[in-house]
Amino acid sequence: MQPHEISYLLDEAEHWVAVNRQAAKHDDRLAGLTQINAFFENSTRTLLSFEIAGKRLGADVVNMHAAQSSVKKGETLIDTAITLNAMRSDVIVIRHGSSGAVALIADKVDCPVLNAGDGRHEHPTQALLDALTIRRHKGSIAGLTVAICGDVLHSRVARSNILALTALAAEVRVVGPATLIPDAIEAMGAARFTDMDEGISGADVVMMLRLQNERMDGAFVPSPREYHALYGLTYERLKRAKPDALVMHPGPMNRGVEIASNVADDVNRSVIAEQVEMGVAVGGLQHERRPYHRKRGPRRSRQRHPDWQSFCFQGPDCREGS
Ligand code: NCD
Repeated sequence: MQPHEISYLLDEAEHWVAVNRQAAKHDDRLAGLTQINAFFENSTRTLLSFEIAGKRLGADVVNMHAAQSSVKKGETLIDTAITLNAMRSDVIVIRHGSSGAVALIADKVDCPVLNAGDGRHEHPTQALLDALTIRRHKGSIAGLTVAICGDVLHSRVARSNILALTALAAEVRVVGPATLIPDAIEAMGAARFTDMDEGISGADVVMMLRLQNERMDGAFVPSPREYHALYGLTYERLKRAKPDALVMHPGPMNRGVEIASNVADDVNRSVIAEQVEMGVAVGGLQHERRPYHRKRGPRRSRQRHPDWQSFCFQGPDCREGS
């Protein structure tokens, strides 16, 4: 996405923040349409944000949990996609453990597909809600120093945030042990720091990431205790950042590992709960008309609803179409 497109979406999301704070939250502009949330990986915030937003927009929302689906009986991802397509869904929201799986499904179905996180690749709505949270606190994103700290290697949140925040002219640093920072991170426009104190020094935003053990094939850190000692966000360490630096985390948190509980719960510094609220507001954007970023045109045996389009950040690590 281009910077002006991201800014446009953030402006539009403000409308949904206001709607979500009203007693009556319904806006039935998607009435009569069907949204399938197909989640092949666990989720609390993202699944509920899409579900709540879809319902508030008036869509009929159906959740497919992979653990209770025919995936467990050996059905392939493509066959599952063809099945969902035959049910004439108007949008499919997908989370999958494999990078590129969302793009694969988008190729097989007639309706728009929204990426709710694929492997280590991308998590576009998380980056939008993070940018929205930052902008609401800091006024604008251009010129801010954002330190993304922890397990960047396995993090789709980090990749989408680097693409979105650099597009919006922030200075992005990635901070973590050398084993958890991808080789080509500089090509995405981020600076690399392996010393936490140095990496968060003077930062306007400190964004913490969980050790994503389920995506690791081997040991990347000696122990959670040692990791906390070197890379955990404590009050002592936070003093290196600007005095008004925001503390962020996409969740789920592992308290006492990447972040100390008292920092996570400090309502004067931590905006972690607000990120969740912004996630529902960003879910409200699914009716937006977006340019559809794909190299090949989608197969369309029937008309897509014009109000539902997919979106994706464009950058060196962004496969088109997810
Ligand atoms: C993240 C995810 O699933 O990528 N969480 C989220 O969507 N809010 C981060 C994580 O799993 O650590």
